Amino acid sequence: AEACNIGIFGGGTVGGGIVEIIESKREKFEQMTGKSLHVKKICVRDLNKPRDFNVPEGCTVTTDYDDILNDDSLDIIVEVMGGTTKAKDVVSAALQKGRNVVTANKALIAAFMPEIEKLLTDINASRDENVEFRYEAAVCGGIPIIRSLQSDFVGDEISMISGIINGCTNFMLTAMDAEGKSYDEALDEASKLGYAEEDPTLDVGGFDARSKLKILMRLAYGIDVDEEEISCRGITELSKLDFQYAKMMGGSIKLIGVAKAVSPGKVAAFVSPAYVTSGDSLYAVSGATNAVEVISKNLQATTLIGQGAGRYPTANSCINDIVALAKGDKTPLPFNPPAKDVQFVNNYESNF
Ligand code: NAP
Ligand code: HSE
Repeated sequence: AEACNIGIFGGGTVGGGIVEIIESKREKFEQMTGKSLHVKKICVRDLNKPRDFNVPEGCTVTTDYDDILNDDSLDIIVEVMGGTTKAKDVVSAALQKGRNVVTANKALIAAFMPEIEKLLTDINASRDENVEFRYEAAVCGGIPIIRSLQSDFVGDEISMISGIINGCTNFMLTAMDAEGKSYDEALDEASKLGYAEEDPTLDVGGFDARSKLKILMRLAYGIDVDEEEISCRGITELSKLDFQYAKMMGGSIKLIGVAKAVSPGKVAAFVSPAYVTSGDSLYAVSGATNAVEVISKNLQATTLIGQGAGRYPTANSCINDIVALAKGDKTPLPFNPPAKDVQFVNNYESNF
């Protein structure tokens, strides 16, 4: 079969999972796509770091970005190294070279959504075949919320999108509540399991959830909100006492993200820890599980629940994007059309 060559920036939790799944499902993917998928190059920071996955035969591990960016035999570039500086450079360069890009990097998308969108528009204006940009893994790990908002809700009107959208903190809150673990123990365990960002402040400060909420708001409402305008509180100030009080009242505490159409044409949003009663659907959502509820005119209430972080759930979403690209599937508009008549209102207190 014709080869579909893949270059990956990042050989950590997610990158390793992508390599493992491609290697273990080679025959199936060949039957599905008509192509033989090969991870040809992986870019990392430290060549001496031991890898917890097998580097495929014939695959080069490099620290030189250009090894990947200048390799014209690569069909798909996957960015799973994180951060916003180098990641932006390599994603932009790959798109400019006409490579299809898959990323799991919500921080990058949230920070540079208009730039990425413009770059794609400019590049694709002069091409017969669009360069594709896919990012299913960037929001809620294994849950297919991006493609759902890109396609399943196009005829609908979303009034609220909300839920648990960070796996690391939900894992921590579950461990602190159910197992009485300390904050530090819980964070340490979440990091070891690959749930935390390289800088866990992004998780515990609520900023990772805020980036995801910003992306969801563009897809749900067509608005591009300045992330910093979204009211954001993380879990850093929660103590054992908070959990004891929550338990006494029969509930628990969850970090939630909410975006809501509060009046016609006006959307408000926040990220915050919230008390949930034992009757609330989020109460039983434990560990690194995420749950997103979409309230809409046609479908009414739709909830997607699944693993929101970790190697295989996240790699699974990247694989779905990679296989779709190898098959030649075309994406709908990556960020949905912008809305002209919807506005973000950031006065959290008076809007909820
Ligand atoms: P990770 O385990 O820390 O792996 C990052 C990889 O990228 C490492 O191999 C690292 O190299 C490499 N890297 C980092 N900075 C680099 C640089 N400047 N130049 C070259 N290589 C660099 O991170 P991860 O958990 O896989 O996350 C990767 C991305 O996926 C992030 O954007 C994250 O937000 C996103 N994501 C993660 C999850 C999850 O559950 N982990 C879920 C959804 C989305 P070394 O190994 O040599 O240090
Ligand atoms: N650190 C992120 C989380 C990874 O815990 O949700 C998945 O986006």
